[in-house]
Amino acid sequence: MTQLTPVLTDMWDVEQGWKLKPYEAKGGYAALDVAFGMAPDDVIGAVKDSGLRGRGGAGFPTGMKWSFIPQDNPKPKYLVVNADESEPGTCKDIPLMMGNPHVLVEGVIISSYAIRANKAFIYIRGEVLHVIRRVQAAVDEAYAAGHLGKDIHGSGYDLDVVVHAGAGAYICGEETALLEGLEGRRGQPRLRPPFPAVAGLYASPTVINNVESVASVPAIVKNGAAWFASMGTEKSKGHGIFSLSGHVTRPGQYEAPLGITLRELLDLAGGIREGHRLKFWTPGGSSTPLLTAEHLDIPLDFEGVGSVGSMLGTRALQIFDETVCVVRAVLRWTEFYKHESCGKCTPCREGTWWLVQALDRLENGSIDEQGGAELVDQLLDQCDNILGRSFCALGDGATSPISSSVMYFRDEYLAHLRHGGCPFDPARSTVWAGQEVTA
Ligand SMILES: Cc1cc2nc3c(=O)[nH]c(=O)nc-3n(C[C@H](O)[C@H](O)[C@H](O)COP(=O)(O)O)c2cc1C
Ligand code: SF4
Repeated sequence: MTQLTPVLTDMWDVEQGWKLKPYEAKGGYAALDVAFGMAPDDVIGAVKDSGLRGRGGAGFPTGMKWSFIPQDNPKPKYLVVNADESEPGTCKDIPLMMGNPHVLVEGVIISSYAIRANKAFIYIRGEVLHVIRRVQAAVDEAYAAGHLGKDIHGSGYDLDVVVHAGAGAYICGEETALLEGLEGRRGQPRLRPPFPAVAGLYASPTVINNVESVASVPAIVKNGAAWFASMGTEKSKGHGIFSLSGHVTRPGQYEAPLGITLRELLDLAGGIREGHRLKFWTPGGSSTPLLTAEHLDIPLDFEGVGSVGSMLGTRALQIFDETVCVVRAVLRWTEFYKHESCGKCTPCREGTWWLVQALDRLENGSIDEQGGAELVDQLLDQCDNILGRSFCALGDGATSPISSSVMYFRDEYLAHLRHGGCPFDPARSTVWAGQEVTA
């Protein structure tokens, strides 16, 4: 299980591996001919059989999503690639597009062919101009080589791809807010139903998939569904990119089968930085409930992480050692959610503001123990009024770090109250309430 599975990351250390020639030299774009030799429904069937589940966080089965596109609907069908990647800690799609943009383009062609779309959009986070340029260059190369445009590889199939720069808002990663943005409106989530498969972009049937989901398709078509399904666990098949950041010796992206554990990943990454110990971590970005050292051996698949009350999310493993004040980290994330709340619904718009106020009072000491004894429960009550009552998952996600950190570190919250602010010595963060924290 400790074996790495470099499929998507295979080109990353190839000299100029983002260009067409090196990609073709490694067999790139060969999967197109395999796909064109199959009926579109058989491509959907192969992706279903592979067990591929969406890599954007929720883990919805990709082949099933494609099969929801109503083929009797006379409107055009669209594929939209979600490349907005803005979740704190998530850093897989951007390196993937930088290191191997052609695998995404090839995946876009096969996925569009399967759902019978003749137009696809790649919606890239606006701040990452270097990525937008790289993907646009790959699309241009693909057109010039006949992999895009009219009658691709003589198959009779036509596809145009538009690379679209988002305007820089976390909410535009939410698939319906993304569609609003793509149509030129303010990025705010849409009411569902109708679901995008029925009425998505320009009210037409639309599939929205994450970069990594789409980029996984060429290898499935080329090597077969059974090959992909032979990796991973019973219900979480295949390989995926695990991004380790924070207090690890060698942070970075590790492509491995789903079901690998954090302990195994830390072994590959040289462990927690020397002289320190793991305090808490996120399994899939800041919207997924925190875990601790007791969870080092849970399988990192959808079911394993779910069984301990968190979510696999985007496999963004942010690692924090004992020098980090959990309240401070949670305050930072909550400030992010407050800033990024789109304002459409009251629980999230108002609630995230109140969460920041409460956390700020705890961390920065504008409260005494007597006046603040109930503050921690008040914080949980505020979370309760946001979770499940917000219009989209951004509001829910904002509560995850708070409720999970109070569950595991209530003592540390109470120590903030006793201390009248953060008990960590700012000059020496290993000193907590006057006592040295042992590694
Ligand atoms: C606030 C918010 C931000 C999101 N950001 C992204 C993102 O940047 N990239 C992404 O693929 N999915 C993101 N999602 C999930 C998408 O709504 C959607 O589930 C995903 O693109 C579906 O693709 P998949 O089935 O291939 O995973 C976000 C969801 C929410 C609620
Ligand atoms: S939960 Fe937040 S981001 Fe989502 S619609 Fe409501 S205000 Fe907007």
